[in-house]
Amino acid sequence: MSTTPKDTAIDARPKRQQTAKNIRAMKGSTPIVCLTAYITPMAARLDKHCDLLLVGDSVGMVLYGMDSTLGVDVDTMIRHGRAVCRGAKQALVVIDMPFGSYEETKEQAFRNAARMLSETGAGAVKLEGGIEMAETVRFLAHRGIPVLGHVGLMPQSVHAHGGYGARGRSVDEWQPIIEDAKAIAEAGAFAVVLEGVAEPLARKVTEEVDVPIIGIGASNACDGQILVTEDMLGLFAINPKFVKRYMELGAAIEEAIGAYAGEVRCRAFPAEEHTYKMRGANS
Ligand code: KIV
Repeated sequence: MSTTPKDTAIDARPKRQQTAKNIRAMKGSTPIVCLTAYITPMAARLDKHCDLLLVGDSVGMVLYGMDSTLGVDVDTMIRHGRAVCRGAKQALVVIDMPFGSYEETKEQAFRNAARMLSETGAGAVKLEGGIEMAETVRFLAHRGIPVLGHVGLMPQSVHAHGGYGARGRSVDEWQPIIEDAKAIAEAGAFAVVLEGVAEPLARKVTEEVDVPIIGIGASNACDGQILVTEDMLGLFAINPKFVKRYMELGAAIEEAIGAYAGEVRCRAFPAEEHTYKMRGANS
């Protein structure tokens, strides 16, 4: 890793971090900018552009090659949560509660959420679920734990729902999703992620729920947007419909690694400027 002084990963500005309360107050005003982050240098790069950084359980798929988020545990989330908090100066850091860490009882949820906040420095947790999780959200929120909800397509329920297809593409699927979002907001969530739903449903949820609705694959009608950073940077070959690729990172990496390999093989790298000289030598 190079350590050019002007470009250190951890920025020296004092922390003036966004809070869940501020994000809640952004309902209906400027769109809320959110991305996922799992490691310090990426968090430091994203921080100045984002209102919220999510340490998503998507870490299991993006960094560890898992085929779903179900195998991610609390310790993994804490490790990545700490790393992201080291890089974030102003964005609110939210950590996903992984599958199995909150569904059993509200006390189990509190215990794990408290650990995840106290051991990382993050400002909120996210959990998936609608009406069935409302009492848990209320229990956490009333005990000082800011909660970001997550309804619509819920990746931790992939087996129950039978895949990652978009929800709410026919009107008869709308009501349970609207009720889920309302229940979580009413229970005290400061905002709700709405994933993978048709645009008219996203518009209705955003109009009818009085906390910010953060969309992913849920159209431009929401109060804010979130994407998996590595998806929007173009790291992977597969590209879901709702992702816009802002660069082709995968191709850029391959090109750079190809150039490195070629230069090592023909001894063009390391060159003079990368080579230490004896003390007292001219350069
Ligand atoms: O885990 C994750 O990255 C998420 C976002 C995609 C919302 O839950």
